[in-house]
Amino acid sequence: PTDAPNGRVDIATDAEAVAQRAASLIAEKVRGSSGPFVIALSGGSTPKRLYQILASDYADLPWDRMQLVFGDERFVPADDSSSNYRMVSEALLSKVDVPSANVHPMPTDGTPADAALRYQGILQRIHGSDTLQPGKPLFDIVLLGLGENGHTASLFPGTDVLNERKAWVGSCTPLDAPHDRLTLTYPAIQSSRLVMFLVAGAGKAEIVAKVRGGDAAQPSTQIRTDGELLWLLDKAAAGERDHA
Ligand code: 6PG
Repeated sequence: PTDAPNGRVDIATDAEAVAQRAASLIAEKVRGSSGPFVIALSGGSTPKRLYQILASDYADLPWDRMQLVFGDERFVPADDSSSNYRMVSEALLSKVDVPSANVHPMPTDGTPADAALRYQGILQRIHGSDTLQPGKPLFDIVLLGLGENGHTASLFPGTDVLNERKAWVGSCTPLDAPHDRLTLTYPAIQSSRLVMFLVAGAGKAEIVAKVRGGDAAQPSTQIRTDGELLWLLDKAAAGERDHA
């Protein structure tokens, strides 16, 4: 499998260009496919812009073939201002013709551990199987961001979910974030045709360099994919100095 430090890097001018590039790549992959197309969505500001672009410039994609799942979620009600589902709803789902049966928010009721198990069941139904095999990826695309503390999805430093090798979905209580989280695990993310990190801003340059340099202590460094791995960075996140 491809590991995170070894992924291909594509550097765009700024965050807007990263979002534009991601949108056009997603559209290309969807149009080049047939049958169900499964995307794991991420939270964050650059992805939000990506979803807005998909809604405005790519409304003609075959949304009825897309299965939209979530890479992670805060354990808050769906209408909470910090809910990824709420953000994706406002930026994208309310604007394109995607059947509601194709949209799969992470449950945030009951306990986080039980909700994680239920979401794994949802993914298994979409996948048509309860096992992961390298030749049959769970996801066509997994979108990921990168936190300044090295987290991706909600794989936070120092949490037990980093050690999960079997379950597809787990929960964690990050030390330095306000809510419990649900997240795809490493083995689930690995079962993918394309993993795309979207990272923008000078504040991310240091952590990008660490992860790309192979610093094993960073959760993002441990990301693997059976498919292709792509880093979409803006110049600032790539550490290029002439980004003023
Ligand atoms: C989320 C994700 C998280 C995110 C990074 C980067 O916010 O839902 O859990 O992994 O992708 O924290 O976020 P930004 O791209 O907004 O900096």
